[in-house]
Amino acid sequence: MASDLTRRTLLAAGAALALPARAQPSDRIPVGVIGAGNIGSTIGGLWVKAGHPVLFASRHPEELAGLVAGLGPLARAGSVAEALAFGEAVLIAVPYRAYPEIGREHAAALKGKIVLDAGNATKARDGDLAAEAEAAGIGAVSAKYLPGARLVRVFNAANYRVFQKNAHREGARMAVPLAGDDPGAVAVAEGLVRDAGFDPVVVGPLDAARRFAMGSPGFGLDVTAPEARKAFGLAP
Ligand SMILES: NC(=O)c1ccc[n+]([C@@H]2O[C@H](COP(=O)([O-])OP(=O)(O)OC[C@H]3O[C@@H](n4cnc5c(N)ncnc54)[C@H](OP(=O)(O)O)[C@@H]3O)[C@@H](O)[C@H]2O)c1
Repeated sequence: MASDLTRRTLLAAGAALALPARAQPSDRIPVGVIGAGNIGSTIGGLWVKAGHPVLFASRHPEELAGLVAGLGPLARAGSVAEALAFGEAVLIAVPYRAYPEIGREHAAALKGKIVLDAGNATKARDGDLAAEAEAAGIGAVSAKYLPGARLVRVFNAANYRVFQKNAHREGARMAVPLAGDDPGAVAVAEGLVRDAGFDPVVVGPLDAARRFAMGSPGFGLDVTAPEARKAFGLAP
């Protein structure tokens, strides 16, 4: 019969197996979400459900009353400036054409801020910015218009309905690719990806965001993390 000590050791090992470190929620951090449409409300809502306080922002925060009321006391609405002041990390989920203006108007607040950048540039909606992103790489273009931010490209590579359907799914989680130059910002983003119910896969530095930009082979992959690492040619 196992001694008490052995039994305790086994129980502790069992508990550790049941809840591996990577499945534990990251520390709760205040998050700003700039743009509370399809993608912002989906991902921000998942963070609220994970216990993070979230301030949702748009140009018309009064229109976000229903969204935040539905999410409960951890959710609130405000201006872009308030989201930047509130968030230790900020998700930007606005049409890409708004980036230059947001970058100009909030230059000081963006400096040193961890920014999760979900925007995609499309020709129909964003005009010349789409061509610029195609030529220079979307990571470089985001960095140009949001200078000084600790940028991580993430949550751009799937439709919001795919995120809604797959968050915290049974079995192997859906992979979410991300790319950034700042290791601390990437680590925070990885934690927030996990808390939203997905497995983060770091594809590389910010420039590697090209590999899962809209129109690239890495865009729209609904795969597990091992499958994503294989698809991106990363070490297993
Ligand atoms: N839809 C998707 O499935 C999906 C998936 C991945 C990535 N993305 C990317 O995410 C971004 C947002 O897409 P979406 O579909 O979520 O758009 P959306 O549903 O149209 O929502 C856009 C949000 O941004 C706000 N907004 C627009 N201009 C703004 C500005 N200058 N300052 C502050 N807030 C502003 C809008 O509110 P107000 O107009 O009231 O300001 C709205 O809350 C795009 O770049 C898109 O390419 C979308």
